[in-house]
Amino acid sequence: MELRKGLEDIAIKETSITYIDGDLGRLYYRGYSIYDLASFSNFEEVSYLIWYGKLPTQRELADLKSHLAEERNVSEEISTFVSKVAKTANPMDILRTAVSMMGLEDRREEGLVTKAIKITAKIPTIISLIQRTRRDQKFIEPDPSLSHAENFLYMINGEKPDLNFSKTMDVALMLHMDHEMNASTMACLVVASTLSDIYSSVVAGISALKGPLHGGANSEALKQFMEVESPDQVEKYVLNKLSTGHRLMGFGHRIYKTMDPRAKILKDYAREVTEGKPTERLYKVAEKIEEIGIKILGKRGIYPNVDFYSGLVFFSLGFDTDLFPTIFASARVVGWTAHVDEYLLDNKLIRPKAIYVGDLGKKYIPIDERQ
Ligand SMILES: CC(C)(COP(=O)(O)OP(=O)(O)OC[C@H]1O[C@@H](n2cnc3c(N)ncnc32)[C@H](O)[C@@H]1OP(=O)(O)O)[C@@H](O)C(=O)NCCC(=O)NCCS
Repeated sequence: MELRKGLEDIAIKETSITYIDGDLGRLYYRGYSIYDLASFSNFEEVSYLIWYGKLPTQRELADLKSHLAEERNVSEEISTFVSKVAKTANPMDILRTAVSMMGLEDRREEGLVTKAIKITAKIPTIISLIQRTRRDQKFIEPDPSLSHAENFLYMINGEKPDLNFSKTMDVALMLHMDHEMNASTMACLVVASTLSDIYSSVVAGISALKGPLHGGANSEALKQFMEVESPDQVEKYVLNKLSTGHRLMGFGHRIYKTMDPRAKILKDYAREVTEGKPTERLYKVAEKIEEIGIKILGKRGIYPNVDFYSGLVFFSLGFDTDLFPTIFASARVVGWTAHVDEYLLDNKLIRPKAIYVGDLGKKYIPIDERQ
């Protein structure tokens, strides 16, 4: 039996959702280039594309938009719970528990995508409840006349976002929606393959996304930019970090061996939303870290990934740093649920093997005779 640590290069299913070309740095959702989707589409349309496998007609898009808008409110129990722990608990732990509570309110007769729409619609409300409670700000009711991205920012900042901010948020969410068989999607599938329920799968996805090697890297990347005073300090900072055994956060990827296309797209938005603002210094430092990092690590195929600029974008849009992984989850939930739906069409219980390297045939010694 061959041992593949981290299941590297093992395919666990066929998919028509996402294709990544890691050598050329290309990403496609349902066959459409991420560059085209980021330029011309929006969160709702790409959600439809990922869930249903085709671009929607006007009617289908309007239906999905109103369905998402109708489902934004969370139950009294969930909002009471979130408000109670918002000031003390980790936001990913709160989100995980809130989605688990949604499972308690599950209506069995609904289909998987209908449940996915509900979860997707409610996550921004939970995130805004966390941030606004912590800041002692009044909760903002969702506004059904706003798009998913506009409403998300409105509920966070308490004012309707301008076009530039809402487009940036829309694109950032689209870029995070799916990424083939990453750790959190795999976690969702492991749960789904036992014929458990979609809420449990999403809880598993959030749990896997929480770690700093996955969804937690965006806030770590931003922390780096904050640690450096100016671009001329970057070289020393990077060399010191790498020579002391630390990793450059927001760099490196299991699949991409060149610049992640999502990082390329987000870089432009990061520049735009920081221009002329106090955060412009962070952008300049980030750009320099990118340059020096690529000079040192590029030859080993280690380049900026999606998390390199996303933290700076989310910060500039008004989110607290420790909320970044929850924003990632708010978009990735679309991919998680679509992969579960796809996997269940031809379900096979996920049950890999481990290679046993311990002893066998040991003699059991009663506890009072043990040394
Ligand atoms: C994402 C990540 C876990 C993928 O790594 P992986 O495919 O499992 O590869 P490994 O962790 O085994 O790393 C392979 C080698 O590259 C190096 N490397 C990988 N990412 C690195 C980084 N960001 N900075 C410095 N070195 C890095 C490792 O030190 C290792 O070197 P070694 O072979 O000399 O020990 C890894 O690149 C990483 O930790 N990046 C930082 C966290 C991050 O940005 N995560 C977001 C991912 S979207």
